[in-house]
Amino acid sequence: MSAKRIDGKAFAADVRAQVATHVARLKEESGLTPGLAVVLVGEDPASQVYVKNKGIQTREVGMNSFEHKLDAATSEADLLALIARLNADPTVHGILVQLPLPGHLDSDLVINAIDPAKDVDGFHISNVGLLGTGQKAMVPCTPLGCLMMLRDHLGSLSGLDAVVVGRSNIVGKPMAQLLLAESCTVTIAHSRTKNLAEVCKRADILVAAVGRPEMIPGDWVKPGATVIDVGINRIERDGKMKLVGDVDFASAVEVAGAITPVPGGVGPMTIACLLANTLTACCRAHGLAEPEGLTA
Ligand code: GUN
Repeated sequence: MSAKRIDGKAFAADVRAQVATHVARLKEESGLTPGLAVVLVGEDPASQVYVKNKGIQTREVGMNSFEHKLDAATSEADLLALIARLNADPTVHGILVQLPLPGHLDSDLVINAIDPAKDVDGFHISNVGLLGTGQKAMVPCTPLGCLMMLRDHLGSLSGLDAVVVGRSNIVGKPMAQLLLAESCTVTIAHSRTKNLAEVCKRADILVAAVGRPEMIPGDWVKPGATVIDVGINRIERDGKMKLVGDVDFASAVEVAGAITPVPGGVGPMTIACLLANTLTACCRAHGLAEPEGLTA
């Protein structure tokens, strides 16, 4: 039987609508408008598109969007000075420095200069440590979006076998921490994992985040499993450019219980969760109740 398609586009629209409702209430009841500052260094075309979309969606939910576009040759000192100003600015509740940065800038140094309370990407070492020790953190947006979809589809995740394929700091590792916090039995697999097919086949929850087009075929999927495909890979097929995931959708959809498509699965959830994190950061900064259902 063909798996249920988990509609990330509709889910993300619902998250944005919830954020917009909270933002309207914040303005009315507390006179607060959450603000997100996005910093882009250089002219990477993909990053420019992301930043533009972030700005549009931030304004659509009623938040303030502050965009800082810096020359590719910007010095580390100037970038750190901007971050210091944003850290001190009470109208800015979230700060995102678009990655990758040009090679002469130290990404770790820059990210760790952001006030952890404003680190809506959840990349600061304090937030990584808080998440890993089960404390209140800012959680990276893509894994947060995956968790929301998993909870919605499965309810309790307790006791399930979860396999995360990919060990990046942005997706694989925080995803594994979130699943562990949900009481899953978690395996992190990667390019050196032995018997990857057998490992994947154990998974009740299979999260693919490796960035290799269609590397996970349907016969690596346990029948009835929930498959979350984080990959967004641009390939050429039949003379046309096409977006595909890390999972071979055509074969996996025949085996899985539920699966996220590419495009229209995890992708739209990332910006929706960035907005949710900005709202959460604003509420925490002002000692207000956090929005329910929009945090980890
Ligand atoms: N570049 C691609 N994805 C992301 C993301 O989620 N956050 C940041 N800061 N940069 C990115």
